[in-house]
Amino acid sequence: MDKILIIGAGGQIGVELTLALRKIYGRNNVIATDIREEHPILKEDNGPFFNLDVMDTKEVAKIVARENITQVYLLAAILSATGEANPIWAWDINMQSLLNLLEICRENKVKKFYWPSSIAAFGPNTPRQNTPQHTIMEPTTVYGISKYAGELWCQYYFNRYGLDIRSLRYPGLISWKSAPGGGTTDYAIDIYIEALKKQHFTCFLSEDTYLPMMYMDDAIRATIELMEAPAEKIRNRTAYNLSAMSFSPKEISESIKLHIPEFTIDYAPDYRQQIAASWPQSIDDSEARADWGWKHEFDLAKMTEDMLKNLRNKQ
Ligand SMILES: NC(=O)c1ccc[n+]([C@@H]2O[C@H](COP(=O)([O-])OP(=O)(O)OC[C@H]3O[C@@H](n4cnc5c(N)ncnc54)[C@H](O)[C@@H]3O)[C@@H](O)[C@H]2O)c1
Repeated sequence: MDKILIIGAGGQIGVELTLALRKIYGRNNVIATDIREEHPILKEDNGPFFNLDVMDTKEVAKIVARENITQVYLLAAILSATGEANPIWAWDINMQSLLNLLEICRENKVKKFYWPSSIAAFGPNTPRQNTPQHTIMEPTTVYGISKYAGELWCQYYFNRYGLDIRSLRYPGLISWKSAPGGGTTDYAIDIYIEALKKQHFTCFLSEDTYLPMMYMDDAIRATIELMEAPAEKIRNRTAYNLSAMSFSPKEISESIKLHIPEFTIDYAPDYRQQIAASWPQSIDDSEARADWGWKHEFDLAKMTEDMLKNLRNKQ
Protein backbone atom coordinates (compact mmCIF):
# COMPACT_ATOMS: atom_id res chain seq x y z
CA MET A 1 0.00 0.00 0.00
CA ASP A 2 1.37 3.42 -0.95
CA LYS A 3 1.77 6.15 1.67
CA ILE A 4 2.28 9.68 0.38
CA LEU A 5 3.94 12.72 1.99
CA ILE A 6 3.16 16.20 0.61
CA ILE A 7 5.45 19.03 1.71
CA GLY A 8 4.04 22.53 1.12
CA ALA A 9 0.48 21.12 1.01
CA GLY A 10 -1.12 24.41 2.07
CA GLY A 11 -0.16 26.28 -1.12
CA GLN A 12 -1.91 26.99 -4.41
CA ILE A 13 -1.10 23.56 -5.86
CA GLY A 14 -0.79 21.59 -2.63
CA VAL A 15 -4.37 21.97 -1.42
CA GLU A 16 -5.90 20.66 -4.65
CA LEU A 17 -3.24 17.98 -5.16
CA THR A 18 -3.75 16.67 -1.62
CA LEU A 19 -7.52 16.37 -2.17
CA ALA A 20 -7.01 14.64 -5.55
CA LEU A 21 -4.45 12.15 -4.19
CA ARG A 22 -6.66 11.37 -1.19
CA LYS A 23 -9.46 10.42 -3.62
CA ILE A 24 -7.15 7.87 -5.25
CA TYR A 25 -5.13 6.55 -2.30
CA GLY A 26 -7.53 7.08 0.60
CA ARG A 27 -7.58 9.99 3.04
CA ASN A 28 -5.33 8.43 5.68
CA ASN A 29 -2.64 7.45 3.18
CA VAL A 30 -1.89 11.03 2.11
CA ILE A 31 -0.14 13.10 4.79
CA ALA A 32 -0.28 16.86 4.22
CA THR A 33 2.43 19.06 5.78
CA ASP A 34 3.24 22.77 5.68
CA ILE A 35 5.19 25.35 7.68
CA ARG A 36 1.92 27.33 7.94
CA GLU A 37 -1.09 26.22 9.90
CA GLU A 38 -3.45 23.81 8.16
CA HIS A 39 -5.30 25.34 5.20
CA PRO A 40 -9.07 25.60 5.97
CA ILE A 41 -9.97 23.41 2.96
CA LEU A 42 -7.65 20.65 4.24
CA LYS A 43 -8.95 21.07 7.78
CA GLU A 44 -12.44 20.46 6.47
CA ASP A 45 -11.22 17.32 4.68
CA ASN A 46 -10.05 15.99 8.04
CA GLY A 47 -7.07 13.97 6.80
CA PRO A 48 -3.63 13.68 8.45
CA PHE A 49 -1.72 16.99 8.72
CA PHE A 50 1.58 17.93 10.41
CA ASN A 51 3.32 21.27 10.79
CA LEU A 52 6.70 20.76 9.17
CA ASP A 53 9.58 23.01 8.13
CA VAL A 54 11.22 21.40 5.09
CA MET A 55 14.57 22.82 6.25
CA ASP A 56 14.37 20.70 9.42
CA THR A 57 16.10 17.69 7.86
CA LYS A 58 15.91 15.53 10.98
CA GLU A 59 12.17 16.00 11.39
CA VAL A 60 11.47 15.33 7.69
CA ALA A 61 13.61 12.15 7.82
CA LYS A 62 11.82 11.06 10.99
CA ILE A 63 8.37 11.39 9.40
CA VAL A 64 9.43 9.59 6.19
CA ALA A 65 10.79 6.63 8.20
CA ARG A 66 8.06 6.52 10.88
CA GLU A 67 5.17 6.73 8.42
CA ASN A 68 6.73 4.29 5.90
CA ILE A 69 6.40 6.88 3.15
CA THR A 70 6.60 5.46 -0.40
CA GLN A 71 5.95 8.65 -2.42
CA VAL A 72 7.01 12.24 -1.72
CA TYR A 73 5.69 15.43 -3.35
CA LEU A 74 7.91 18.42 -2.54
CA LEU A 75 5.94 21.62 -3.25
CA ALA A 76 7.46 24.01 -0.70
CA ALA A 77 9.30 26.79 -2.53
CA ILE A 78 9.78 30.53 -2.80
CA LEU A 79 8.17 31.68 -6.06
CA SER A 80 9.47 34.01 -8.79
CA ALA A 81 8.28 37.45 -7.66
CA THR A 82 8.87 36.80 -3.92
CA GLY A 83 12.30 35.31 -4.68
CA GLU A 84 13.55 38.49 -6.36
CA ALA A 85 12.94 40.43 -3.12
CA ASN A 86 15.33 38.17 -1.20
CA PRO A 87 17.47 36.13 -3.60
CA ILE A 88 19.87 34.38 -1.19
CA TRP A 89 17.01 33.26 1.06
CA ALA A 90 15.05 32.00 -1.99
CA TRP A 91 18.08 30.06 -3.26
CA ASP A 92 18.66 28.56 0.18
CA ILE A 93 15.07 27.35 0.63
CA ASN A 94 14.57 26.15 -2.95
CA MET A 95 17.88 24.29 -3.28
CA GLN A 96 18.42 23.01 0.25
CA SER A 97 14.88 21.63 0.50
CA LEU A 98 15.42 19.66 -2.71
CA LEU A 99 18.84 18.35 -1.68
CA ASN A 100 17.47 17.35 1.76
CA LEU A 101 14.62 15.40 0.18
CA LEU A 102 16.75 13.77 -2.51
CA GLU A 103 19.01 12.35 0.22
CA ILE A 104 16.12 11.34 2.49
CA CYS A 105 14.31 9.61 -0.41
CA ARG A 106 17.50 7.77 -1.38
CA GLU A 107 18.26 6.65 2.18
CA ASN A 108 14.70 5.51 2.85
CA LYS A 109 14.26 3.85 -0.56
CA VAL A 110 11.22 6.00 -1.34
CA LYS A 111 9.60 4.59 -4.51
CA LYS A 112 8.69 7.85 -6.27
CA PHE A 113 9.55 11.51 -5.78
CA TYR A 114 7.82 14.52 -7.40
CA TRP A 115 9.38 17.96 -7.53
CA PRO A 116 7.98 20.68 -9.84
CA SER A 117 10.05 22.84 -12.14
CA SER A 118 8.75 25.87 -14.04
CA ILE A 119 8.89 27.76 -17.34
CA ALA A 120 11.11 30.10 -15.25
CA ALA A 121 13.96 27.62 -15.89
CA PHE A 122 14.18 29.25 -19.35
CA GLY A 123 15.77 32.65 -19.96
CA PRO A 124 15.95 35.56 -22.42
CA ASN A 125 18.21 33.62 -24.85
CA THR A 126 15.73 30.72 -25.07
CA PRO A 127 13.62 30.64 -28.28
CA ARG A 128 10.39 32.27 -27.11
CA GLN A 129 7.85 30.63 -29.43
CA ASN A 130 7.14 26.91 -29.10
CA THR A 131 10.10 26.58 -26.76
CA PRO A 132 11.57 23.11 -27.30
CA GLN A 133 12.17 20.56 -24.55
CA HIS A 134 15.94 20.72 -25.07
CA THR A 135 17.22 24.23 -25.76
CA ILE A 136 19.25 27.15 -24.38
CA MET A 137 18.21 27.69 -20.73
CA GLU A 138 20.24 30.51 -19.06
CA PRO A 139 17.53 31.67 -16.58
CA THR A 140 18.04 35.16 -15.10
CA THR A 141 15.82 35.09 -11.97
CA VAL A 142 16.98 33.43 -8.75
CA TYR A 143 13.83 31.30 -8.89
CA GLY A 144 14.66 30.19 -12.43
CA ILE A 145 18.28 29.44 -11.57
CA SER A 146 17.10 27.27 -8.65
CA LYS A 147 14.65 25.42 -10.93
CA TYR A 148 17.26 24.74 -13.61
CA ALA A 149 19.86 23.59 -11.07
CA GLY A 150 17.18 21.49 -9.34
CA GLU A 151 16.26 19.75 -12.61
CA LEU A 152 19.89 18.72 -13.07
CA TRP A 153 20.09 17.44 -9.48
CA CYS A 154 16.96 15.34 -10.09
CA GLN A 155 18.52 13.82 -13.19
CA TYR A 156 21.74 13.20 -11.23
CA TYR A 157 19.92 11.24 -8.51
CA PHE A 158 18.11 9.18 -11.14
CA ASN A 159 21.30 8.38 -13.05
CA ARG A 160 23.51 7.84 -10.01
CA TYR A 161 21.13 6.17 -7.51
CA GLY A 162 18.13 5.09 -9.60
CA LEU A 163 15.76 7.33 -7.59
CA ASP A 164 12.47 7.46 -9.54
CA ILE A 165 12.09 11.21 -9.67
CA ARG A 166 9.63 12.96 -11.97
CA SER A 167 9.11 16.62 -12.77
CA LEU A 168 7.09 19.07 -14.89
CA ARG A 169 7.89 22.59 -16.04
CA TYR A 170 4.55 24.13 -15.06
CA PRO A 171 3.38 27.24 -16.87
CA GLY A 172 1.50 29.91 -14.84
CA LEU A 173 -1.26 28.12 -12.94
CA ILE A 174 -4.74 29.58 -12.56
CA SER A 175 -7.10 28.42 -9.82
CA TRP A 176 -9.94 29.61 -7.58
CA LYS A 177 -9.70 27.30 -4.52
CA SER A 178 -6.43 28.37 -2.86
CA ALA A 179 -4.59 31.67 -3.30
CA PRO A 180 -1.40 31.98 -5.38
CA GLY A 181 1.95 32.31 -3.60
CA GLY A 182 3.76 35.28 -5.21
CA GLY A 183 4.42 34.38 -8.85
CA THR A 184 4.64 36.54 -11.97
CA THR A 185 1.51 34.96 -13.48
CA ASP A 186 -0.69 35.68 -10.41
CA TYR A 187 -2.35 38.55 -12.30
CA ALA A 188 -4.33 35.98 -14.27
CA ILE A 189 -6.08 34.93 -11.04
CA ASP A 190 -6.53 38.40 -9.53
CA ILE A 191 -8.12 39.66 -12.75
CA TYR A 192 -11.10 37.29 -12.31
CA ILE A 193 -11.50 38.16 -8.61
CA GLU A 194 -11.40 41.93 -9.32
CA ALA A 195 -13.65 41.60 -12.37
CA LEU A 196 -16.37 40.17 -10.12
CA LYS A 197 -15.72 42.55 -7.22
CA LYS A 198 -15.02 45.90 -8.92
CA GLN A 199 -15.52 45.30 -12.66
CA HIS A 200 -12.04 46.84 -13.04
CA PHE A 201 -8.45 45.58 -12.88
CA THR A 202 -5.04 47.28 -12.95
CA CYS A 203 -2.55 44.83 -14.40
CA PHE A 204 1.13 44.69 -13.37
CA LEU A 205 2.08 43.39 -16.85
CA SER A 206 1.64 45.25 -20.14
CA GLU A 207 -1.30 44.41 -22.40
CA ASP A 208 0.67 42.37 -24.94
CA THR A 209 2.72 40.21 -22.52
CA TYR A 210 2.08 36.66 -23.73
CA LEU A 211 2.83 33.87 -21.25
CA PRO A 212 2.11 30.13 -21.17
CA MET A 213 -0.70 29.32 -18.72
CA MET A 214 -2.73 26.35 -17.48
CA TYR A 215 -5.92 25.81 -15.47
CA MET A 216 -5.32 24.02 -12.16
CA ASP A 217 -7.58 21.07 -13.08
CA ASP A 218 -5.24 20.29 -15.98
CA ALA A 219 -2.11 20.80 -13.83
CA ILE A 220 -3.32 18.40 -11.12
CA ARG A 221 -4.28 15.80 -13.72
CA ALA A 222 -0.89 16.18 -15.47
CA THR A 223 0.95 15.70 -12.18
CA ILE A 224 -0.96 12.57 -11.26
CA GLU A 225 -0.79 11.12 -14.78
CA LEU A 226 2.98 11.65 -14.85
CA MET A 227 3.37 10.00 -11.44
CA GLU A 228 1.11 7.06 -12.36
CA ALA A 229 2.83 6.39 -15.71
CA PRO A 230 5.00 3.25 -15.90
CA ALA A 231 8.67 4.14 -15.22
CA GLU A 232 9.80 3.03 -18.67
CA LYS A 233 7.58 5.72 -20.27
CA ILE A 234 9.44 8.48 -18.44
CA ARG A 235 12.32 9.17 -20.80
CA ASN A 236 13.06 12.61 -19.39
CA ARG A 237 14.52 12.86 -15.88
CA THR A 238 15.09 16.61 -15.75
CA ALA A 239 11.53 18.01 -16.21
CA TYR A 240 8.93 17.79 -18.98
CA ASN A 241 7.71 20.83 -20.88
CA LEU A 242 3.96 21.09 -20.28
CA SER A 243 1.50 23.31 -22.09
CA ALA A 244 -2.19 24.18 -22.44
CA MET A 245 -2.65 27.80 -23.64
CA SER A 246 -0.90 31.16 -24.03
CA PHE A 247 -2.55 34.55 -23.74
CA SER A 248 -1.86 38.21 -23.00
CA PRO A 249 -3.56 40.40 -20.36
CA LYS A 250 -5.55 42.00 -23.21
CA GLU A 251 -6.83 38.62 -24.39
CA ILE A 252 -7.86 37.40 -20.93
CA SER A 253 -9.65 40.74 -20.34
CA GLU A 254 -11.54 40.26 -23.62
CA SER A 255 -12.60 36.76 -22.57
CA ILE A 256 -13.91 38.20 -19.27
CA LYS A 257 -15.81 40.98 -21.11
CA LEU A 258 -17.86 38.32 -22.89
CA HIS A 259 -19.32 37.48 -19.44
CA ILE A 260 -19.03 40.90 -17.72
CA PRO A 261 -19.46 43.54 -20.50
CA GLU A 262 -18.81 46.50 -18.14
CA PHE A 263 -15.35 45.15 -17.16
CA THR A 264 -12.40 47.52 -17.81
CA ILE A 265 -8.64 47.09 -17.49
CA ASP A 266 -5.65 49.42 -17.32
CA TYR A 267 -1.94 48.68 -17.16
CA ALA A 268 0.79 49.68 -14.69
CA PRO A 269 3.74 47.35 -15.39
CA ASP A 270 6.17 46.94 -12.46
CA TYR A 271 9.33 44.83 -11.77
CA ARG A 272 7.43 41.70 -12.76
CA GLN A 273 7.32 42.89 -16.38
CA GLN A 274 11.05 42.23 -16.63
CA ILE A 275 10.64 38.72 -15.21
CA ALA A 276 7.85 37.96 -17.70
CA ALA A 277 9.94 39.34 -20.57
CA SER A 278 12.65 36.73 -19.84
CA TRP A 279 10.24 33.78 -20.18
CA PRO A 280 8.86 31.88 -23.21
CA GLN A 281 5.55 32.92 -24.79
CA SER A 282 4.53 29.40 -25.79
CA ILE A 283 5.81 25.90 -25.07
CA ASP A 284 6.33 22.79 -27.20
CA ASP A 285 5.30 19.89 -24.97
CA SER A 286 5.27 17.19 -27.66
CA GLU A 287 7.56 14.91 -25.60
CA ALA A 288 5.08 14.83 -22.68
CA ARG A 289 2.26 14.11 -25.15
CA ALA A 290 4.24 11.30 -26.84
CA ASP A 291 5.87 9.69 -23.76
CA TRP A 292 2.98 9.49 -21.26
CA GLY A 293 -0.03 10.72 -23.22
CA TRP A 294 -0.46 14.28 -21.92
CA LYS A 295 -3.52 16.12 -23.28
CA HIS A 296 -4.88 19.40 -21.92
CA GLU A 297 -8.63 20.05 -21.59
CA PHE A 298 -8.97 23.75 -20.78
CA ASP A 299 -8.45 26.64 -23.23
CA LEU A 300 -8.93 30.32 -22.33
CA ALA A 301 -12.70 30.42 -23.05
CA LYS A 302 -13.45 27.25 -21.06
CA MET A 303 -11.25 28.37 -18.16
CA THR A 304 -12.86 31.84 -17.98
CA GLU A 305 -16.31 30.30 -17.82
CA ASP A 306 -15.28 27.87 -15.07
CA MET A 307 -13.32 30.46 -13.02
CA LEU A 308 -16.19 32.98 -13.01
CA LYS A 309 -18.75 30.30 -12.15
CA ASN A 310 -16.72 28.95 -9.22
CA LEU A 311 -15.66 32.36 -7.88
CA ARG A 312 -19.32 33.52 -7.99
CA ASN A 313 -20.37 30.43 -6.01
CA LYS A 314 -17.57 31.03 -3.48
CA GLN A 315 -18.67 34.66 -2.79
N1 LIG B 1 1.67 28.18 -9.02
C1 LIG B 1 2.33 28.29 -10.16
O1 LIG B 1 1.89 28.99 -11.08
C2 LIG B 1 3.60 27.50 -10.37
C3 LIG B 1 4.20 27.52 -11.64
C4 LIG B 1 5.38 26.83 -11.83
C5 LIG B 1 5.93 26.09 -10.81
N2 LIG B 1 5.34 26.07 -9.58
C6 LIG B 1 5.99 25.30 -8.52
O2 LIG B 1 5.08 24.45 -7.85
C7 LIG B 1 5.43 24.35 -6.46
C8 LIG B 1 4.26 24.75 -5.59
O3 LIG B 1 3.87 26.03 -5.96
P1 LIG B 1 2.59 26.79 -5.34
O4 LIG B 1 2.12 27.72 -6.39
O5 LIG B 1 1.67 25.83 -4.72
O6 LIG B 1 3.34 27.67 -4.24
P2 LIG B 1 2.73 28.33 -2.91
O7 LIG B 1 3.64 29.44 -2.53
O8 LIG B 1 1.28 28.62 -3.09
O9 LIG B 1 2.85 27.14 -1.87
C9 LIG B 1 4.06 26.75 -1.30
C10 LIG B 1 3.77 26.22 0.08
O10 LIG B 1 5.04 25.87 0.67
C11 LIG B 1 5.00 26.28 2.03
N3 LIG B 1 6.36 26.50 2.53
C12 LIG B 1 7.16 27.56 2.32
N4 LIG B 1 8.31 27.41 3.00
C13 LIG B 1 8.23 26.21 3.64
C14 LIG B 1 9.10 25.51 4.52
N5 LIG B 1 10.28 26.02 4.89
N6 LIG B 1 8.70 24.30 5.00
C15 LIG B 1 7.49 23.78 4.65
N7 LIG B 1 6.61 24.42 3.84
C16 LIG B 1 6.98 25.63 3.35
C17 LIG B 1 4.17 27.55 2.05
O11 LIG B 1 3.64 27.79 3.35
C18 LIG B 1 3.11 27.25 0.99
O12 LIG B 1 1.94 26.71 1.58
C19 LIG B 1 6.68 25.22 -6.28
O13 LIG B 1 7.84 24.43 -6.43
C20 LIG B 1 6.58 26.18 -7.43
O14 LIG B 1 7.83 26.67 -7.81
C21 LIG B 1 4.19 26.77 -9.34
